[in-house]
Amino acid sequence: MQWLRWLGCCSVVLLVGCKEVDPNSPEGKRSAVFKQMLSHSQTLRDYQRGERLFDSAEVAQHAQALAGLSGQAWQYYPPLPEDADVAQSARQAQFAGYAQQLEQAAQRLQQVTQELPAVNATFVEALQAVNAGCSGCHQEFRGY
Ligand code: HEC
Repeated sequence: MQWLRWLGCCSVVLLVGCKEVDPNSPEGKRSAVFKQMLSHSQTLRDYQRGERLFDSAEVAQHAQALAGLSGQAWQYYPPLPEDADVAQSARQAQFAGYAQQLEQAAQRLQQVTQELPAVNATFVEALQAVNAGCSGCHQEFRGY
């Protein structure tokens, strides 16, 4: 009955792996924002690489959506506790710094994609700055 034991083992892994997050919880809400940002940034990357036929209006729309979302996730993180120590405050400030960096990069991307004639260096740079904004914070704060 070795296989039964394996089966039991697998279902435990599956259950843990599929842990449902309540979409109305703060975790669920910020997860939804992150996933939308990811979707827009991936579409923009496809345009950058020429994997999608360049469409100025579409690119502008995705950049605008990204800029709109870039400030949305942070409200769903718990505020700094009143009795926060210096280290906690510093960590919170660092997080806020990354958040601000992303928002600024996304706003710049939105500006440079207004009536963009084609993929050009300015667009590539602005998109890379956005991606750097994501990964900078992830390296520091995302535990996976
Ligand atoms: C200021 C920090 C910060 C920035 C900037 C940031 N993220 Fe995240 N992101 C996190 C953290 C922390 C998590 C871990 C999950 C959580 O805290 O809810 C995360 C998780 C995610 C997830 C996983 C969500 C899930 O539930 O599966 C995606 C996708 C994601 N981020 C995409 C992005 C994209 C795309 C950008 C840039 C456009 C970005 N993030 C910018 C902090 C950040």
